[in-house]
Amino acid sequence: MTASPVFDVAGVSRVYPGTPPTLALDDIDLEVRDGEFLVLLGPSGCGKSTLLELLAGLQSADAGTIRYRGAPLAGPSAELGVVFQDPALYPWRTVARNVGLGLELRRGGRSERRARVLAELDRVGLAAFGDHYPHQLSGGMRQRAGIARALAGDPRVLLMDEPFGAVDHLTRVQLQQDLLQLWSEDRRTVVFVTHDVGEAVFLGDRVVLLSPRPGRVFREFDIAEPRPRRRGEPGLLSREAEIYDALRDLDAGPLAAADV
Ligand SMILES: Nc1ncnc2c1ncn2[C@@H]1O[C@H](COP(=O)(O)OP(=O)(O)OP(=O)(O)O)[C@@H](O)[C@H]1O
Ligand SMILES: [Mg+2]
Repeated sequence: MTASPVFDVAGVSRVYPGTPPTLALDDIDLEVRDGEFLVLLGPSGCGKSTLLELLAGLQSADAGTIRYRGAPLAGPSAELGVVFQDPALYPWRTVARNVGLGLELRRGGRSERRARVLAELDRVGLAAFGDHYPHQLSGGMRQRAGIARALAGDPRVLLMDEPFGAVDHLTRVQLQQDLLQLWSEDRRTVVFVTHDVGEAVFLGDRVVLLSPRPGRVFREFDIAEPRPRRRGEPGLLSREAEIYDALRDLDAGPLAAADV
């Protein structure tokens, strides 16, 4: 018997109310497998964040079903850690108290919580910055703090929405490397949203390409290149070229953006 997937998304659509209403996602079928690094790739406005929020239980589908480990997804859960594009740290809390925020709502003593926060800060290279405030950090460090906050709850799945979109290129390259290092330590399931083809191919086991709004699954790419990967290696570049070809088909194809 095969284990049920982490997420099983079947026939999911999402319509934002309004005049006219906006069909953001249309009939999405998607499986997320245990331990995989899945990348959702697509142009701006195609519904990536919407899909990620559906997986996080922060929105609900208007049609179709989402199952999490075999049971209908009921809402947000401590098993699902979310990293938003903007790390949204509270400016009046220290970095450590931001990272420990979710833990304060749970059982457990202060010293246990403190140890957990320090361990996660250490994992993302911020051990020396727990007592700093967010404004004293660089953009890349704030992103790391956002990742530490998601990891502090020890989620089984990490849902990441363009977490490196707002940092400079070299910082982004470093954060990608660090994220892969973290992932290789525990192989928890990751769903990672991006609109950057190079980032998708460098990080992912599998890349799911969505069409422009309304988002539909246009194509899937298995990226079987061995890890650790070297940026710019020929195998990865040819996968990038395939995805760029698919993006061209997408522009030329019948899947034009449409309102309902
Ligand atoms: N709260 C909302 N109310 C109405 N329409 C919305 C809302 N949020 C998103 N949309 C619409 O749904 C579509 C999908 O939005 P979404 O934010 O999921 O796209 P995205 O792929 O994450 O885009 P980006 O890459 O720019 O972040 C967009 O075209 C947007 O107009
Ligand atoms: Mg988005």
